[in-house]
Amino acid sequence: MTASCGAEPLHLQVNGQAQSLASVPREASLLHFLRNDLGLNGPKYGCGLGQCGACTVHVDGVAARSCVIPAHGVAGRKVTTLEGLGSRGRWHPVQAAFEDAQAAQCGYCLNGMVMQAAALLARDPQASEARIRSELSGNLCRCGTHIEILDAVQRAAARMSAAHEDKAA
Ligand code: FES
Ligand code: FES
Repeated sequence: MTASCGAEPLHLQVNGQAQSLASVPREASLLHFLRNDLGLNGPKYGCGLGQCGACTVHVDGVAARSCVIPAHGVAGRKVTTLEGLGSRGRWHPVQAAFEDAQAAQCGYCLNGMVMQAAALLARDPQASEARIRSELSGNLCRCGTHIEILDAVQRAAARMSAAHEDKAA
């Protein structure tokens, strides 16, 4: 990104790597920064208003809508995008479950669905169907694949819950 009036240096950690940019506009959104400066295209631009969930990332492990968060608002914090959650050959359980359940049509909403679900299951691996439905209620899918998405998250919850119990035994 080129230096501009009202730009400042920005330091934060993204997907486990320190990122330092000399000049990021004060008004730049975290979504813009991730996609345009770091080339991380997991988070998607949907509404730009914090209302659809397509742009969801984790900030210090908590699901957050990157389109309405200023990049400078997360200076010094840990940001995780879909790329940092897992990748082919080492999928996060939620990603693996979405693949197993074939829970996609166009796939545009999946970043948000996966990131929101992964944050929930990290705090509550035994999340109930009602809890999952509630957690994902703010994530929109224009293709109407909600049933398959719910199935995928429940599969992930079952696997993560079993793994959690194995560890505790
Ligand atoms: S693009 Fe961020 S919530 Fe819709
Ligand atoms: S699969 Fe197309 S928006 Fe959800």
